[in-house]
Amino acid sequence: MTTDTTVVIIGSGPAGMLLSQLLHRHGIDSIVLERASRAHVLGRIRAGVLESTTVDVLQAAGIGARLDREGHPHDGVRIAWGGTETIFLDTMKVLGRRFTTYGQTQIQEDLYAAAAARGQVLLDEVDAVRLHDLESDAPSVSFTRAGHPQRLRAEWIVGCDGFHGVARHAIPTTVRREHEKVYPFGWLGVMAPVPPLPDVTYASHDRGFALASQRGSSLSRYYIQVPLDTRLEDWSDARYWDELRRRFPPALAEAITTGATIEKSIAPLRSFVAEPMRWGRLFLAGDAAHIVPPTGAKGLNLAVSDVFYLARAMQRWHDGRDPRALDGYSEMALRRVWNSERTSWYLTHLLHRFPDASTFDLRTQEAEFALLKTSTRAQAALAEQYAGMPLEDLPA
Ligand code: APR
Ligand code: PHB
Repeated sequence: MTTDTTVVIIGSGPAGMLLSQLLHRHGIDSIVLERASRAHVLGRIRAGVLESTTVDVLQAAGIGARLDREGHPHDGVRIAWGGTETIFLDTMKVLGRRFTTYGQTQIQEDLYAAAAARGQVLLDEVDAVRLHDLESDAPSVSFTRAGHPQRLRAEWIVGCDGFHGVARHAIPTTVRREHEKVYPFGWLGVMAPVPPLPDVTYASHDRGFALASQRGSSLSRYYIQVPLDTRLEDWSDARYWDELRRRFPPALAEAITTGATIEKSIAPLRSFVAEPMRWGRLFLAGDAAHIVPPTGAKGLNLAVSDVFYLARAMQRWHDGRDPRALDGYSEMALRRVWNSERTSWYLTHLLHRFPDASTFDLRTQEAEFALLKTSTRAQAALAEQYAGMPLEDLPA
């Protein structure tokens, strides 16, 4: 069989670009197809908390230099409750592990720079991507670029094309199972060039959830829970800062530096998993297969663990035609996916005001916080999840 490349990767988000980087380091060539323009991909603002395993993978992949310089390590995460109390989940003390704040936009820039340096073939602004013959030994992908139809043959096709991509839908509905939970609120996020609070701080309050995060010593990222029908034009900066501060205890509210915002956007919250993550010659990785609500910032971390497992499995195949790691990919990736789905669902339930919450629901949220406040074991369990579990080794 003649092929144009070993792996066709659909999507140039963090999953697709990191996969192409890892494959390159294993001596496996790939071509990346992207529907959007480079400027569009680089303009997206997403979460910015990296588990220590994510930092390890990015560094081992050779794209950790700027992350080392500009990423901000944190010894733990803060939870504020009811406008009065706070607790600090000390991941360093409990686990000896830190996490790092560093924007996904910066990771995307680092990945594009590494791709350019190695001469990676990346075809952007492609249309009408279709997958063919995935159950055969000669799978291919067709698409158009600047109006010209093209087709690429490969050994493997990987769908890294995000939640709105096409790859997942190539798995027949008789095989594909989808699990979904949609939450009745969204997050209104702002970016502002002002010094952030020292800790990433999640706040639960009668008025709704709020979050303080950061992108460096003079760039703050904040979010507040809002109803799904919220309109951006109703939220002046002044209204935003006022509402944000009301959701934190007074000492933290006073410590929040306000200023003109440089970005405002609303994101809905959703949990979603598609299984299996492999069908014939097709593999799925990242948001193409699963979405988490941003509470806990697991989305990017899961994209990284998926492609780490997949690149390792492809290396095993490439080196000695051993198919076992590829055959085990879906199961191994999904174990981590479901664990992070549980953690982000748990944090979402703990910290948000649900519009239809009963007094029973509110009381059990309070009991959960009381448990976290008084039990070092409960704190340790959540700290472990927040900092992230170790990656799995391949079975012997
Ligand atoms: N053809 C080609 N490219 C496509 C297609 C298609 N039919 N559909 C979507 N894409 C591209 C999108 O334009 C996007 O650039 O696939 C890419 C998917 O990237 P992401 O949505 O960033 O998904 P992923 O790489 O899995 O990143 C994981 O971490 O923080 C989380 O959810 C966040 O983006 C996030 C993620
Ligand atoms: C962010 O910095 O954008 C961020 C941090 C933590 C989250 C979500 C988003 O849980």
